[in-house]
Amino acid sequence: MEAPALVALALLMWPATLTGAGKPQLSSTGFELPSKGSFSLDAPPGWSGRFWGRTHCFIDPSGKFTCATADCASGQISCNGAGGVSPASLVELTLASNASGQDYYDTSLVDGFNLPLSLAPAGAAGSGCKATSCPSNVNAACPADLAVKSGDGSVIGCKSACVAFNTPEYCCQGEFGGPQTCHPTNYSRIFKKLCPQSYSYAYDDKTSTFTCSGSPNYVITFCP
Ligand SMILES: *[C@@H]1O[C@H](CO)[C@@H](O)[C@H](O)[C@H]1NC(C)=O
Ligand SMILES: *[C@@H]1O[C@H](CO)[C@@H](O)[C@H](O)[C@H]1NC(C)=O
Repeated sequence: MEAPALVALALLMWPATLTGAGKPQLSSTGFELPSKGSFSLDAPPGWSGRFWGRTHCFIDPSGKFTCATADCASGQISCNGAGGVSPASLVELTLASNASGQDYYDTSLVDGFNLPLSLAPAGAAGSGCKATSCPSNVNAACPADLAVKSGDGSVIGCKSACVAFNTPEYCCQGEFGGPQTCHPTNYSRIFKKLCPQSYSYAYDDKTSTFTCSGSPNYVITFCP
């Protein structure tokens, strides 16, 4: 089975990748993308992991690469197996391990939102499969108690209620730890209204998980 290519497109920002389940990282775990730039990565069959975009990045006085949103705290453009700090909009992807299997993918705001993004199956193999996205700027509608602001006061990220308040109800833990007991909340509904295809809380599977077979390539776009 041919390795599917994963392509990222964006405004100036710094995408990051994290491979899950203790498997080897992709050939890049972080890179700079100029406006309209693209970068292609090969992922092996069975690959599972996430993509996110870091914004407002700079080299701090001690020489460390640092981002105001979704930083992975590696001190470098490469994340080297580290995840991003919340809030971060995510693309999550699990590729089939063989040609007859299915890929699973979603966009997730469970860890909050920092920028709009999308994922689209591409090429002939992906032609019958659906794209998914969080197309809206959730920052513009973020409730004050979830907002992350930059030095100049503009909202650059929107925490999920789980990240902001860390309660069992918002995080779907304890007595709320299952699809029967964890439900949308007044906060998750704000995210869902703006990004109906994205996970707005942990058990939002029905409207947020997508599948495709035939091992297509995927195009991930930041700020579509
Ligand atoms: C193909 O992969 C799927 C999971 O993606 C798995 O369930 C299935 O058993 C695999 N089939 C073969 C023939 O290995
Ligand atoms: C959500 O509900 C909680 C608890 O009832 C309340 O304190 C909070 O202000 C509400 N937030 C919004 C954005 O509606």
